[in-house]
Amino acid sequence: MADRNIQILKPDIKDDPAHELALSVLEGLSSRPKSLPSRLFYDDKGSKLFQQIMELEEYYPTRCEAEILEKYAAEITEHASGAKFNLVELGCGDGAKTVKLLDSLINKKIEFNFVPLDISRAAVEFLLGNLEKRYGEIPFEVKGLVAEYFQGLSWLTDNASERNMVLFLGSNIGNFNKPTALRFLRHLWHSLNDGDLVLIGYDLKKDLDILYDAYNDKKGVTKEFNFNVLDRINSLLGANFERKNFQHQGLYNVQTGAMESYLISQSKHIVTIEEVGKTFNFEPWEAIHMEYSYKYLESDIESLASSTGFEILKNFKDSKGYFVDSLWQVKK
Ligand code: AVI
Repeated sequence: MADRNIQILKPDIKDDPAHELALSVLEGLSSRPKSLPSRLFYDDKGSKLFQQIMELEEYYPTRCEAEILEKYAAEITEHASGAKFNLVELGCGDGAKTVKLLDSLINKKIEFNFVPLDISRAAVEFLLGNLEKRYGEIPFEVKGLVAEYFQGLSWLTDNASERNMVLFLGSNIGNFNKPTALRFLRHLWHSLNDGDLVLIGYDLKKDLDILYDAYNDKKGVTKEFNFNVLDRINSLLGANFERKNFQHQGLYNVQTGAMESYLISQSKHIVTIEEVGKTFNFEPWEAIHMEYSYKYLESDIESLASSTGFEILKNFKDSKGYFVDSLWQVKK
């Protein structure tokens, strides 16, 4: 069933025109601070590493959100009762948390089509396999999409039926900088109909030691997740990055309110990237910015909703107050 029900909107990066990837790497490594495109994190190996991150003792967001969905699934799905609707999950990963919502919809006999979307084909296939294992005969229609988020929104514009609920869980929104988050939410609003629902996971601002440990785990899985990006550039673009020349560090930026991941050069050295046709000089302690993970206040969530045309129906929080799943409704 996996193959039949998957639509590929974004071919695997290795099937991209090489110049497109080379161009974004050239752009990133030519800017100051240097940076690398975060879409390089999620190849099959990166997706598996992210699964491992989610199981780490220090990485609290996944457990907090699982607690929220366990406790409030019935209340959340109550808002979806009525005619059949599309349940679209952007960045579905393995769907482990989503099954709580699926179970609740099935229990209430609410009809829906499930559209899980992820940039990693392996993640979508894994999720479809999990659904088959869990339900045997799956009691709803499923259509997996392999796509980037913004492509998913365009798909929605073309395919959104009368009623939709969009899930954007796991604080994926935190990986956007503020202007991109605003652009994304406005695009989402535009793709949806009046009264449609959106459930977005936001990681809240908290004690800095907790944040630090979550992004600098003891087992070094987050480090491996970052180094995997260098390995990919080596194999996709003929580069000669050496892991030993870099140290990984997750740092909290007090100005922007984001955890930021860096690979920091340990020495003066040169990296050649054949497909880019260029060498890049690294100074000792020069950093490559790898990823933002923005943290929010509830007041930030309120202003995001009101400035993008949504009304907050309810904020669902875990018992520690670390994480919010915010249920919004489209107002047109
Ligand atoms: C996918 N995303 C929400 C994760 C985060 O927390 O920003 C990715 C991640 N990076 C390092 N650890 C987890």
